[in-house]
Amino acid sequence: MSIGIVGAGAVGSAIGAALARAGIEARMLNRRGPAAMGPLASMLAPQVTAGTRDEVLGADLVFVAVPWTRLGEALGGVDWTGRVVVDCTNALEGPSFRQVGLDGLTSSEAFAQFVPGARVVKALNHLLPHLLAGDPRAEGGRRVLFMAGDDADAKAQLGGIIDRIGFYRIDLGNLREGGRMMEFPGGPFPGLNLVVFD
Ligand SMILES: NC(=O)c1ccc[n+]([C@@H]2O[C@H](COP(=O)([O-])OP(=O)(O)OC[C@H]3O[C@@H](n4cnc5c(N)ncnc54)[C@H](OP(=O)(O)O)[C@@H]3O)[C@@H](O)[C@H]2O)c1
Repeated sequence: MSIGIVGAGAVGSAIGAALARAGIEARMLNRRGPAAMGPLASMLAPQVTAGTRDEVLGADLVFVAVPWTRLGEALGGVDWTGRVVVDCTNALEGPSFRQVGLDGLTSSEAFAQFVPGARVVKALNHLLPHLLAGDPRAEGGRRVLFMAGDDADAKAQLGGIIDRIGFYRIDLGNLREGGRMMEFPGGPFPGLNLVVFD
């Protein structure tokens, strides 16, 4: 399975770090080009490296970690049919952190409109980036990651990755109800650092 990461900021680089530590290969994309990634690219190499837009957005499974207001330009003009897209975003506007109007949709339902035909799973947005990047066993158990989506196979693919990077996964159900619980602002789970001792 090829993996792309769109966004190389706080969340994208944390995802990259988690994958690289587990020896999982991925290609990462930012807006300003590989040179602007600075030391990040060498820190995550050889598992996670900068990729072209086609490589990253054409991957079998794509993590999306860009600001909400950049989704259109970041994801436009791509055939998403059947591919797994992981929504790691929060529906917030720029530096004001004001919630984006969603016309009654949950944020992941609105997100899905940017990737028509994709199998969207919401995940990896509830933890602070340093906890996502850090050792999930640091507190003696396994740190929890949630996911929600309507496609069982897409969740199984992401679930396999969550297992490999060492987190404890909890499936919150479908995109509408499960995704709502992960929304920031509004949902009960964002910001919680939950650990399962099993
Ligand atoms: N930070 C958090 O605590 C946190 C936690 C959970 C969820 N989130 C959500 O995760 C998303 C990313 O947040 P962040 O804090 O990681 O943001 P960030 O640090 O500002 O990084 C954003 C990244 O997106 C890239 N980008 C912007 N436009 C792009 C485009 N058109 N094509 C490709 N890449 C593009 C930027 O590229 P350049 O580097 O070239 O500018 C940058 O690498 C947001 O939706 C945010 O709400 C954030």
